[in-house]
Amino acid sequence: MNSAVTPARRQLHPPPVPASPFPYHPGSLLSASDLTLDGLSHILARATALESADPLLRDRILAKRRVALLFYESSTRTRTSFELAAKGLGADTTLVSSLSSSIEKGESLKDTGLTLRALGAEAIILRHNSSGAAWLLEAETRLPVLNAGDGMHEHPTQALLDLRTILAHLRPGTETLTPETLAGVTITIVGDITHSRVARSNMLLLPRLGARVLLCGPRELLPDVAAMVGPGITIERDFNEALHQSQAVMMLRIQAERLAGLQLDLEQYKANYQLTGPRLAAHAPTALVMHPGPIIRGLEVTSGVADGLQSVILEQVKNGVAIRMAVVERALTASEQGGRA
Ligand code: CP
Repeated sequence: MNSAVTPARRQLHPPPVPASPFPYHPGSLLSASDLTLDGLSHILARATALESADPLLRDRILAKRRVALLFYESSTRTRTSFELAAKGLGADTTLVSSLSSSIEKGESLKDTGLTLRALGAEAIILRHNSSGAAWLLEAETRLPVLNAGDGMHEHPTQALLDLRTILAHLRPGTETLTPETLAGVTITIVGDITHSRVARSNMLLLPRLGARVLLCGPRELLPDVAAMVGPGITIERDFNEALHQSQAVMMLRIQAERLAGLQLDLEQYKANYQLTGPRLAAHAPTALVMHPGPIIRGLEVTSGVADGLQSVILEQVKNGVAIRMAVVERALTASEQGGRA
């Protein structure tokens, strides 16, 4: 009799899943899910404080500390804003890019990271074309690693700067976050969801604050798979219907570099998913228009909308510097303050 009961009991009480050891370093930011709501609130508050601080005092905070930027993929916004952020706090920065370094000769990510550590880097900001690269680099170097985008996986600082932008417009003055902070807010993410690390980090972050996230796009770029949805996240294929419900809309670029031969009918795509002035006016005349960049004008969004009154795209870029000052400061001071935020 016992032998018949035991397996059922095992099913009811599966062995506990071992806790992830990541991040190893309390200053690392690998995923948008690394941060507690208190940790997120602290970063938002520090972003505001550092943005308004006297630059001559601010640049003593990390004076002469060493930060390495390790970029295997091209970047304008993320790379420049991380560099300005670190320099704005007084840190020395060095850039290693895959096109002008020994990476071209075949040096591995591990050896590149260990080399940067031996040269005195105290934190590494990594953009890489492989999902999971930031986790590997952190495990090998045990330095604080800031994930500046890993393949199709995550881009946590983009989600943080997006959140700062959304809060400034929809919840002004809010810096202490709760599970209800964005209750009643619907945010639609539109386009190439499959390949978007920006979408994934926002999907991990926004529902924790009570926001409803709608994913919108054609099946080629947004398959009907359960992994795409979760608490607070649903798929809405009809763009006009999604817009109608939204207080903010995040437009995404089609990531041609990751399509791997997938052919899309771009005219059909534009007809269904391009954000045009008439579509915005008809279905979401007050929604925030967001885009992580780079924008492909005339494809996912028209120039008129990108430059229009509802666009907060350049605010997102500006918020990148403040948010990245806060996360670079956290990277280099977390262990001194003792503990993970
Ligand atoms: N949003 C973003 O990651 O832009 P870059 O690729 O220019 O850094």
